[in-house]
Amino acid sequence: MPKNFIITSETELRSQVKRWRVKGKTIALVPTMGALHAGHLSLIAKAKQHADKIVASIYVNETQFAEGEDLDTYPRDHANDCEMLRAAGCDLVYMPKKMYADNHATTINIAGPALGLESEARAHFFAGVALIVTKLFNRVQPDLAVFGEKDYQQLLTIRRLTADLDMPVRILAAPIIREADGLAMSSRNKYFGDEAREIAGRLNVIMQKCAKKISQGADIKISTDKACQQILDAGFEHVDYMAVADANSLALLTGHLTDTPARLLVAAHCQGVRLIDNCALIR
Ligand code: PAJ
Repeated sequence: MPKNFIITSETELRSQVKRWRVKGKTIALVPTMGALHAGHLSLIAKAKQHADKIVASIYVNETQFAEGEDLDTYPRDHANDCEMLRAAGCDLVYMPKKMYADNHATTINIAGPALGLESEARAHFFAGVALIVTKLFNRVQPDLAVFGEKDYQQLLTIRRLTADLDMPVRILAAPIIREADGLAMSSRNKYFGDEAREIAGRLNVIMQKCAKKISQGADIKISTDKACQQILDAGFEHVDYMAVADANSLALLTGHLTDTPARLLVAAHCQGVRLIDNCALIR
């Protein structure tokens, strides 16, 4: 690994960023929780198109996990992650050991696009994401940051957060990278056995078919109800939501698609693993 490629200390991070700033370099941040795959690397590639120096962070953020979720078992493979990031042309990997002081007392309460959908199942989630992203932005002070459309509600929430709190960071979105059968790449796909993995691949196929019907003018509720049933028939045990929302505000839409840009979003449980996916609806 090149010297200063992996940094764990906040002081060293700030010094390196300062050295780049003195030379007039622009800086992009790609925040991740590690267990990297091609989806994450596509964010690095996008960042490289827009900034001189690329910082990736790896931190499994405890404040976005609820009791009983997979914080302790979340896949971790730092050596492999760093090798992948180096090969992808990343300039620095920030791997803090600790992000929160023992007497940390600040929370960020975010409404708007953070309400509904994911928040119904994971009420704590976006407050935790908003907090860690704010702290990473304050430490790295990037010109821009890249987030994946895979976590579409997270992307809109971060856009809202940065606009509302006047954070001088441009937020760029990167499209969803999928496996050959259409399953959106995710660190949690590592949890699947062969049978479950096959079932998981059906989610995107059903979602795309539903999106096509709605785009062709079918009623939103009738189409999403039908798709929910198809997901259950495919072997999923539960669908948390399958909904159409305004692509910018995430306000839920019913009836028929209009000219307003819209997004179809889904969350479902496949043999104990919760999957999320989404796609654009084009009229
Ligand atoms: P993580 O799940 O590691 O994802 C890091 C980034 O990679 C997010 O912006 C996510 O949307 C993007 N990503 C994941 N899978 C993708 C795929 N298949 N295609 C395109 N992009 C993909 O999201 C988080 O971590 C955390 O919530 C974080 C923002 C780091 C805060 O802790």
